[in-house]
Amino acid sequence: MLTAKQPAADQPTPETTDPKSVTTLAIDIGGSGTKAILLDAAGTPLGERSRLKTPSPATPKAVMDTIAKLVTDQPAFDRVSVGFPGVVRHGITHTAVNLDKAWVGYPLAEKLSQRLQRPVKVANDADIQGYGAISGSGVELVLTLGTGFGSALFVNGHLVPNLEMAHHRFRKTESYEEQLGRVALEKVGKEKWNRRLQKAIEALEHLFNYDRLYIGGGEAKQITFKLPANATIVPNVLGLLGGIALWQD
Ligand code: BGC
Repeated sequence: MLTAKQPAADQPTPETTDPKSVTTLAIDIGGSGTKAILLDAAGTPLGERSRLKTPSPATPKAVMDTIAKLVTDQPAFDRVSVGFPGVVRHGITHTAVNLDKAWVGYPLAEKLSQRLQRPVKVANDADIQGYGAISGSGVELVLTLGTGFGSALFVNGHLVPNLEMAHHRFRKTESYEEQLGRVALEKVGKEKWNRRLQKAIEALEHLFNYDRLYIGGGEAKQITFKLPANATIVPNVLGLLGGIALWQD
């Protein structure tokens, strides 16, 4: 376990810790639920996933309190990985369409590190899901279907930073998220949502010419059409398990 009293955000784990016994608490902040699981140094879960409803309004303070509660259900940990549903750069959250405006410019890695007294790394939620899903070879696109529409692109295992399809125009003046987010699914129903998703996959295949497509997120289970041979549905838990990758660079 860590001996350092005040680890800073985005700092490597101190050398005094045996790398093989380092544990990582992976957190996934979602539009509807916030989840946590403890991982060993290889990224294997060490216990059960815990989940709490994401508070509403989902202000930084309310979400930080939720994380602090989740942590009490988990065993001791050395460091933290967080998946956040918006653009994250250098530990700072820049957008959070499905949470609260107060996240714009919020130093999440630093604040959470102060609160938990452990080093913290933060990345976009779809990027983390992607790290958990990809093979590491060729061009791989990851989409997540949940409250929002997540997207991440990898080339030979390397992330192309900050890809955001969600709020980009898709069709009929609407964005990918407006057409395919949870609100749209509930409004237009499963059948129409599936037709839209099929069109989106066709459009994105022509745009990215990827080798593989991975589809995750809580609503991936709603897919009823036959996916192209280069596409796979991946389990949503990868949004937590992929968190180990933030410490493996
Ligand atoms: C955000 C993305 C996020 C996605 C899934 C979108 O609204 O803009 O950054 O990955 O939701 O949570």
